[in-house]
Amino acid sequence: MGTRCVPPSSAPPEIIPAGALLFFWMGVPERLESSRKALDMSTVTVSSSARELRITVRSIARAKREGKKLTMLTAYDFTFARIFDSAGIEMVLVGDSLGNVMQGCDTTLPVTLDDVVYHTRMVVRGCERALVIADMPFGSYQVGPEDAVRSAIRLVKEGGAQAVKLEGSAHVAEAIERIVAAQIPVMGHVGLTPQSVNQMGGFRVQGRGPKGRDRIISDALRVEQAGAFAVVLEGLPEDLAGEITGALRIPTIGIGAGLHCDGQVLVMHDLLGLNDWTPSFVKQYANLGALTSQAARAFAEEVRNGKFPDDDHSYS
Ligand code: KIV
Repeated sequence: MGTRCVPPSSAPPEIIPAGALLFFWMGVPERLESSRKALDMSTVTVSSSARELRITVRSIARAKREGKKLTMLTAYDFTFARIFDSAGIEMVLVGDSLGNVMQGCDTTLPVTLDDVVYHTRMVVRGCERALVIADMPFGSYQVGPEDAVRSAIRLVKEGGAQAVKLEGSAHVAEAIERIVAAQIPVMGHVGLTPQSVNQMGGFRVQGRGPKGRDRIISDALRVEQAGAFAVVLEGLPEDLAGEITGALRIPTIGIGAGLHCDGQVLVMHDLLGLNDWTPSFVKQYANLGALTSQAARAFAEEVRNGKFPDDDHSYS
């Protein structure tokens, strides 16, 4: 159970009256207690044990055995990680999609291990219950298994992640085995693997046609055999993802792979409508892009008209 270092407000601490600070810190145990109660309730949806607060790889395995659907969202900072954690999301992924949504790159290829360590630290501080998984970026595990173990250790030791994720199958099987042997749980990722964009010739749905299907099925089996605790299935026909889900003992987490996976993952910017464009498999659950733009315009207008800050928002 981590301690959260939540600032009392976004105002600089030196201008907040001491009484307000005391009031804030006095409320902390109560707020922690109420968030703990919310967590207890949502835990029931995954685990039959009410005592289990922290999601672990064991609870993820049990969810599959018990036929309970799993949820995963990406997050890249403390604020959103805390919201998703409190909402009962079981796994928070510090995805290398941060290259797209945080850094504005066209692909995930430029993301570095230092970038993922940096974002993982923030996300870990926001998660009391969710399992935090750090994505291994391009170049951090392809050179060889030793390099892969070294990178995974950094994500756990410096970032505080509880598991790592990497893309691929046979060519990374030894890396998965060695990372697992180093006591770090690994999530696999097969199908449309964005780090292979140049090899795939674009971001294309995979596993179409008999040969493609067989390849993806054997990829997923290889990842399970190497010791992964779960596997992301990305950009696959729904029936193929369903077949793989039935064939594997470990949970499958789908993105653009239909309903029959054991769980689903979305990139938070897609979920919240923060991107200019959303792929067809994405369901937008909110439009924060429009709301944020509206708030910024309203702020600018009130500042320009001399309406903000008014007496209610000024110190006497
Ligand atoms: O980087 C990422 O966000 C991912 C998810 C889309 C699974 O790998």
